[in-house]
Amino acid sequence: SLLVVRSVAELRAAVRDWKRQGLTVGLVPTMGALHDGHLALVREAVQHADRVVVSNFVNPTQFAPTEDLARYPRQQAEDARLLSGVGCPLMFAPAPEDMYPEGFATSIAVTGPAMGLEGDFRPQMFGGVALVVTKLFNQVQPDLAVFGEKDYQQLMVIRRFVRDLDLPIDIVAVPTQRDEAGLALSSRNAYLSQDELAVARRLNRILAAAAADAASGRPLPGVERDAYAAVLKAGFERIDYVAVRRAEDLSVFRDGVVDAPARILAAAWLGKTRLIDNLAV
Ligand code: PAJ
Repeated sequence: SLLVVRSVAELRAAVRDWKRQGLTVGLVPTMGALHDGHLALVREAVQHADRVVVSNFVNPTQFAPTEDLARYPRQQAEDARLLSGVGCPLMFAPAPEDMYPEGFATSIAVTGPAMGLEGDFRPQMFGGVALVVTKLFNQVQPDLAVFGEKDYQQLMVIRRFVRDLDLPIDIVAVPTQRDEAGLALSSRNAYLSQDELAVARRLNRILAAAAADAASGRPLPGVERDAYAAVLKAGFERIDYVAVRRAEDLSVFRDGVVDAPARILAAAWLGKTRLIDNLAV
C-alpha cells in the first residue's frame, strides 16, 4: 500500500521510523506524469534500498517564464496507482508554496557540466534542478538516489554538486528507456500528435548513425553538421544542438578528435514540443 504525503514533517516521520529499524532509504526524484522510464528508476532503487521514496513535484524554479510549467502534465492519482505496483511505499508530493514559501531567497549556482548544451538554451534549468534536488536530499536524507541517463547532462550536474558539496548520497544511473521504435520515453511525448510522433521516432536512429560515424574516427564538426542536417530533414522544425562531448564531464574534444568515451546529445523542436535524447558513442 502506498502512502502519499504532502508535508516535510510527515515525510520525516516515515523516514525516521525506517531508519530506526535500520533500513536503508532510496530516493527517486520526478516531476510526475510517470511512465515506464520513471518506473525503471523505481525498480532499480528497490534493488539498492530497503525503502524507496518517489518525489512528485513539478519544480517551478527550473522552468523559464516562457516554458511549459502551466501545461506540464499532472496526474498524481494515476502516478500513485503506478507506484503501488512497483514496490514503492511512499510518494512525496509537496505543494509549491511549501517548497518555496514567501520570502524564499536562496539559489545554487552550477557551472562545469552545466555549461553549454541545455545550459545555453535553458539557462535557468540546472540551477533550479540543483536547488530542488538539494532540498529533496535534505528532506528525505536518502542513502542513495536514482536518476536517468535520458537527462544525461542533468545526471552529470547532479554527480558534480554531490561531490562538490560532500553530500553523503550514492548516485545511481539507469539507461534511457525507449519505446519499440527507440523513442526515449518522456512525459512531454504526451504533447505530440500522431504525425509528430512519427518524426520524433527518427531522432534516436539519426543519433545512432552519427554516433557510429563519430566512433569510426571522422572528424567531429562534419559528424555534428551531418547529424544536424539529418534531424532537420527528418522533419524537426528547429534544432537547439547536436553535439558530441566527453562522456565523463561533457567537455569539448580538442581539435574534434574523439580520444575518450563520448556521448552524442541533441535537442530539437516539433511544434511546441522540445525533445532531448543522447547515446553513447
Ligand atoms: P522528470 O523529467 O520527471 O524525470 C525524473 C527522472 O526520470 C530523471 O532522473 C530522468 O532522467 C528520468 N527519466 C525520464 N525519462 C526517462 C527514460 N525514458 N529513461 C530513463 N530515465 C528517465 O528530471 C526531472 O524530472 C527533474 O529535473 C527532477 C530531477 C525531478 C528535478 O525537478
